[in-house]
Amino acid sequence: MTANPTTASAPAATTLPFVHAAPRPGTPAADYLPGARALVRRQLREHGAVLLRGFEVGGVDGFEGVVRAVSGEPLVYAERSSPRSAIKGQVYTSTDYPPAEEIFLHNENSYQADWPLTLFFYCVRPPDTLGSTPLADTRRLYQAIDPAVREEFATRGWMVVRNFTEGFGVPWQQAFNTEDRAEVERYCARNGVEVEWPGGQTLRTRARREAVRRHPVTGEQVWFNHATFFHVTTLAQEVCAGLRELFEEPELPTNTYYGDGARIPDEVMAHLRACYRAEQRRFDWQLDDVLLVDNMLAAHGREPFSGPRRIAVAMAEPWSVVANP
Ligand SMILES: [Fe+2]
Repeated sequence: MTANPTTASAPAATTLPFVHAAPRPGTPAADYLPGARALVRRQLREHGAVLLRGFEVGGVDGFEGVVRAVSGEPLVYAERSSPRSAIKGQVYTSTDYPPAEEIFLHNENSYQADWPLTLFFYCVRPPDTLGSTPLADTRRLYQAIDPAVREEFATRGWMVVRNFTEGFGVPWQQAFNTEDRAEVERYCARNGVEVEWPGGQTLRTRARREAVRRHPVTGEQVWFNHATFFHVTTLAQEVCAGLRELFEEPELPTNTYYGDGARIPDEVMAHLRACYRAEQRRFDWQLDDVLLVDNMLAAHGREPFSGPRRIAVAMAEPWSVVANP
């Protein structure tokens, strides 16, 4: 499966996203994509993200057709960490977070044992201001991180601890899409997640994951984890302070550690955030834009925004570390 492994030097600055414009404005995506599939997929693996611009997409139905034309069947969204509503079929809203809040860069589901290799975003209504989906090349990110920090994570891995406490974040019933504790336990056992029910009420999960991965198609080494995203210090300062006042560290709704459970020093987290920020690239959404993201080659986030913003999301091409150890 692995072809042309490259690990040594930092990749050249790529265009992120690479803009793949319609041959003529209003070209129907449904007519164009079958013949351009191989080219679009090559561009995706080279650049990490491709923006299809100027096409007639044909609404959410047409968007689902784009997913099928490029990647095949879209996936169901499981083990949720963020609120998301289904628009239609396997097309979802992008995270329903308050507009004023930034969503930090991350790779979808990198805290799970499986994740989609390709993500699709579709601009149904652009925002008035900001609201872009910023991107960062995870190959460049890997090279930018202090080698000592990188090695520490490569050796120890990272761990996410989640406490599903009533009133904080997504309830476990929604996260696991079931009311049945035994079903949660079976799912977690299959996916390398430890389960505890402290006090018999709340659910605590612990998952140890690798921090550095090799892309299954390109063979490149990438920084692929939620260690920064889920760390309590990555939240807005007042939110972080408030949570630290309310909860003892082991009870925080979500926090990350080294893979052996040890604390990650605050200065290491600050360095990682600075590396993400330095690699962040942005573009402004236009109506009918479709953004394809290689989920392992590029991290994505969300700027705060004003005005009506509706971005539909679909995920495809599942990859599992259980099936591919
Ligand atoms: Fe995301």
